[in-house]
Amino acid sequence: MERAELLALAAREKEGHRPCRIRCCMAAGCLSANGGDVHKALVKTVQTDGLKDEVEVTPVGCLSWCGAGPLVQVDPAGTMYRNVKPDDAASIVRAARAEGAATAAEVDRKHPFFTRQLPIVLENSGLINPERVEDYVAAEGYQGLFRAVLELTPAEVVQEVTTSGLRGRGGAGYPTGLKWATVAKMPGASKYVVCNGDEGDPGAFMDRSVMESDPHRVLEGMAIAGYAIGAAQGFVYVRAEYPLAVSRLRKAIDQAKKLGVLGTQIFGSPFDFRVDVRIGAGAFVCGEETALMASIEGRRGTPRPRPPYPAEAGLWAAPTLINNVETFANISPILRRGGAWYASIGTEKSKGTKVFSLTGKVRNTGLIEVPMGTPMRTIVEEMGGGVPDGTVKAVQTGGPSGGCVPADLLDTPVDYESLVKLGSIMGSGGMIVMDQGTNMVEVARFFMEFCMDESCGKCTPCRAGTVQMYRLLTRIVNRQATDADLNQLIGLCNMVRETSLCGLGQTAPNPVQSTLRYFEKEYRELLRRPVAGAGG
Ligand SMILES: Cc1cc2nc3c(=O)[nH]c(=O)nc-3n(C[C@H](O)[C@H](O)[C@H](O)COP(=O)(O)O)c2cc1C
Ligand code: SF4
Repeated sequence: MERAELLALAAREKEGHRPCRIRCCMAAGCLSANGGDVHKALVKTVQTDGLKDEVEVTPVGCLSWCGAGPLVQVDPAGTMYRNVKPDDAASIVRAARAEGAATAAEVDRKHPFFTRQLPIVLENSGLINPERVEDYVAAEGYQGLFRAVLELTPAEVVQEVTTSGLRGRGGAGYPTGLKWATVAKMPGASKYVVCNGDEGDPGAFMDRSVMESDPHRVLEGMAIAGYAIGAAQGFVYVRAEYPLAVSRLRKAIDQAKKLGVLGTQIFGSPFDFRVDVRIGAGAFVCGEETALMASIEGRRGTPRPRPPYPAEAGLWAAPTLINNVETFANISPILRRGGAWYASIGTEKSKGTKVFSLTGKVRNTGLIEVPMGTPMRTIVEEMGGGVPDGTVKAVQTGGPSGGCVPADLLDTPVDYESLVKLGSIMGSGGMIVMDQGTNMVEVARFFMEFCMDESCGKCTPCRAGTVQMYRLLTRIVNRQATDADLNQLIGLCNMVRETSLCGLGQTAPNPVQSTLRYFEKEYRELLRRPVAGAGG
């Protein structure tokens, strides 16, 4: 595939569309709300009404407002309909041809939920058919790979990523350019690129949506990384609970190979790169990089001590670059538009945008992408529309490794450092809104139960400590605990944090510590008071 062929394909594709396009969300959220039948009904209506030359029904990825699905968008007008039923199909087709009104409710596209978004990772989401590489190519897909492979040296690609200021979106926020430079410098004939699509945080669905809505973007990011670090093989690790993401990634890999943008001699250059999918069984700990690599190698997915880091000795002891799905999804636009462009978005230390899955007690739930530094209040109250009948009590970020930010601190900008200062973390992007009726000790107990269940048991502090902390939290919730129990819980938090082998145990106390920091009164109110006169 030459660049001229890529551009010709893109041009053909753009011209080939009908004047009117009905985009129907076929990501997991809308599919679970009967979106598949809506799509079928729309296709059938267009066929039976003989409108195939005029109206096109395109299955697309996530249209963002997941809580209101199934969603359908009619273009070029850009009208979006929510909670669409198969029975609405005929009226939507009529409305698309300006021959009447649709029976489904129209979505206000001027709502901050949409207008506050800055789609970079999600720029194609809801617009292209994720199962057609031609759609991706028409949206400038694989142009970043082209520029990398034919116009830049591997070192220049690493430099572009470094200039962008991109930091890992998998949780820790490690500078991506620095990680790539480290792996690139490692000696070794075989190196690997691994995409972490394990996404185990409760309430998080950003990575699933990216893989389902724009799988080629992830593959392109991986291929650019392969060129930059000198790897010829990549693996995408996806949990088995994401079957749609798995099938779309597999389809995308086949199409990319046929097109010549994956495989051997990409764009006629000496660069070879192939990608395979590996499926995880859904253990949360398998998202931890050393456990994930053990799992890919066919061993039990348990973490090991670092060093050596994957960059030095990863898959089959070879230097390995491991990045998150969203991290890779940022790479193509960075290569197309330049690292400096990306670095102009966001804050001083947190560049670009971040995708969040906004859930919990909030009016508008779904997937949003905002510039780093956007105040949490803007996200929750303006975009999310606040709590339906009441007010926000706290917002949980970062999943089981994160913490709860109380309502009076919602003006905090969302960036890596600010959230850590508040005792939480950005994490991978789950954002759960809690209302005044939420019992914060229950919240801490929920996350502790999750960590206890997901602990792999390899090291004692985490294996036994999470059980002990869960028991103490249960005693508190049941009003059976005393001051001494609470003090023991606090002591255990510090011990488990300091002595656990991997991030799961090291961060398991976070939800307890952050709820204690802001809501200690709630813990104390649940404690059993000594009976007056007892023991005298
Ligand atoms: C218990 C645990 C679970 C993790 N789960 C994920 C995950 O699901 N996805 C992910 O990208 N990173 C996860 N991580 C972080 C990875 O170990 C690793 O840091 C990340 O994939 C690196 O990519 P990045 O630099 O692009 O963020 C997890 C870490 C721990 C300790
Ligand atoms: S900290 Fe927990 S999950 Fe991590 S190795 Fe130890 S027991 Fe396993």
